[in-house]
Amino acid sequence: MDIINNKKINSKTENSLPDNFLIDGFGRQITYLRISLTDRCNLRCVYCMPEDGVKLIEHNEMLSYEEILKFVNILASHGVNKIRITGGEPLVRKGMINFIKNLSSISGIKDISMTTNGILLDKYAQDLYNAGLKRINISLDSLNNETFSKITRGGNLDAVLKGISAAKAAGFHPIKINTVLIRGTNDNELMNFISFAIENELNLRFIEYMPIGQNISRTITTKELTEKIKAEYKDFESNKISDSSVSKEYYFSNNKNNKAVIGFISPLSEHFCNDCNRLRLTASGKLRLCLFYDEEYDIKKILNNSVNNEDIYNYLLNLLQKKRQTHLFNNKRGANNCSGHINIIEDNTYMNKIGG
Ligand code: GTP
Ligand code: 5AD
Ligand code: SF4
Repeated sequence: MDIINNKKINSKTENSLPDNFLIDGFGRQITYLRISLTDRCNLRCVYCMPEDGVKLIEHNEMLSYEEILKFVNILASHGVNKIRITGGEPLVRKGMINFIKNLSSISGIKDISMTTNGILLDKYAQDLYNAGLKRINISLDSLNNETFSKITRGGNLDAVLKGISAAKAAGFHPIKINTVLIRGTNDNELMNFISFAIENELNLRFIEYMPIGQNISRTITTKELTEKIKAEYKDFESNKISDSSVSKEYYFSNNKNNKAVIGFISPLSEHFCNDCNRLRLTASGKLRLCLFYDEEYDIKKILNNSVNNEDIYNYLLNLLQKKRQTHLFNNKRGANNCSGHINIIEDNTYMNKIGG
């Protein structure tokens, strides 16, 4: 077995990778970049942003579309083939349709998707599809008007439901719904969500609540959810063929219900760090090696200072050796400068800045 930095290489990637790929110190190949287009949002979800907002990035501090495209071009020539656009809420940034058009013309980028709260999808779904976006994930944490408004601090459920219909009509496939169930807030809606997914033939994913700065006892584990669903639906079965590395998928094996897919994303109870293939770019141009660690690296500066793309590649390769093996969410609070534990107030490290 090869050794990089005296660490064992991930068994999945140990078989001869080309020299010019982006490989971290644990042998994981980076093929996926999550780009936060903006830290701004038209909602204020309780788990993502504080009620009175956060200090937002000034316009001139943001990474411009040209800078993002330059960066993606470099990464694409070193093996990155999947891009996810996140926020804040990506649809509130001006010019994003044209940006997606340009992004989809970059050679090597095979999959461009977006995670949105869906509020503006009714307006933009068709334009997004025409611009080259083919997959979309929509966050939806309640099917009850009042609870939806409470969780999002004022959001309108109908707008999101219209957005989902518009995405379907525009041709998006698959449409994934991301639902975070929080104990005592919306966990009573579990079965409503299941019926909703069945009726609308959706791919619905329950994400374990990552309680950044809050109490872990409000997280409901995947095990607890699957047991409850199995008690109601005897044909609820784990799907052997899953297309996602982060989500474990189930389906209903009896014919009547079999179009819905129910996924479970379990960053806490069953983390997927061993297969981690991703980097995150914030709206101000900072690269984050992991969702949970506050360490950031200034790509805006590098893009503007570096003389050539090769320098940037070497810089990234070096940086990747600092990528941690796993998050420490389940370990003692306060460990290792991880945004799940500390610095949350000082750093304003809320999800709106990282994009999930
Ligand atoms: P697909 O390509 O459609 O599977 O996208 P995705 O599931 O990677 O993207 P999405 O933005 O919909 O993320 C769904 C949830 O998974 C969010 O809550 C993310 O925070 C979480 N998630 C995505 N990537 C990671 C990761 O690297 N680490 C952890 N802990 N959570 C992640
Ligand atoms: N825990 C779990 N999921 C979260 N998301 C945002 N914050 C959290 C959190 N603390 C989800 C959103 C969105 C995705 C990008 O991340 O619901 O669907
Ligand atoms: Fe990768 Fe960090 Fe997410 Fe684990 S927690 S999968 S290392 S980004």
